[in-house]
Amino acid sequence: MAPSTLTALLDRAEALKHEVLLAPVKKSAALRGRAFVNLFFEASTRTKTSFELAGKYLGADVINFQGKGSSVEKGETLYDTALNIEAMAVDLVVVRHQASGAPQHLQEHLKIPVVNAGDGFHEHPTQGLLDMLTVREAKGSLAGLRLVIVGDILHSRVARSDLWGFVALGAHVTLVGPPMLLPQGLQHERVRMTTNLEEALAGADAVQVLRIQKERQSMAGMPSVEEYRARWGLTEARAEKLADDVLVLHPGPQNRGVEIDSSVMERAQSRILDQVQNGVAVRMAVLDWLIGGAHE
Ligand code: CP
Repeated sequence: MAPSTLTALLDRAEALKHEVLLAPVKKSAALRGRAFVNLFFEASTRTKTSFELAGKYLGADVINFQGKGSSVEKGETLYDTALNIEAMAVDLVVVRHQASGAPQHLQEHLKIPVVNAGDGFHEHPTQGLLDMLTVREAKGSLAGLRLVIVGDILHSRVARSDLWGFVALGAHVTLVGPPMLLPQGLQHERVRMTTNLEEALAGADAVQVLRIQKERQSMAGMPSVEEYRARWGLTEARAEKLADDVLVLHPGPQNRGVEIDSSVMERAQSRILDQVQNGVAVRMAVLDWLIGGAHE
């Protein structure tokens, strides 16, 4: 996505946040007469709820579809499921799926817009947008800022979407984690990788802490939970050394006491709940961009 499009979406999200989300009456007619379906084949709290709220605040009709309890359990494919949903005259589908590339595959076959709500290890674009909005709100601009992303970078769709979004808007990104969780092939003049969290945190403006996925614990060379916390956790001791204006982020859900200490989540630097609130704002902006009246 071009930097100008990213900036336009962030500007629109910021406007909708103040005009609708934080207004005494959270209702706009921007999507009145529009309908979309949340197609979620993986668990979600923040993304699914915020897409639903975003749609409802803008006046759309929103239906939530869960793989569990649907005809997927009788063997219906993702493609047929989406084709049938599209036949019900909906205007857009939001898709979360465990297979990387699933939303792109659907977009090639459907006539309506498909929004990626997280696909496998690949991308989580609206998470990237909400993280950009959260940092931009606090810092004014992303140009020249230093974002540290710490954790399981290799398997993180959030890390990929953050990386490309922040870099597109001029930020520097440092990826930190155990060696076996750092990917190859992410070369860019403003991206660097290290296994040393202390070194990465020096000079950081914002730190995005990723969930450590316990199912990775069986990977060869993977540190124990205790060792992980000691070397890569954002502990109280590490947070004490951060300047007051360093933002602490986490896309959720958190393993408190593993990748981030509970007390760090409560510190003044924490923007974790701002991220969640901004999730509604950016999803309003994305829905409005794709099916709002301004684009008829
Ligand atoms: N950040 C995020 O994607 O959270 P959910 O899995 O709860 O949607």
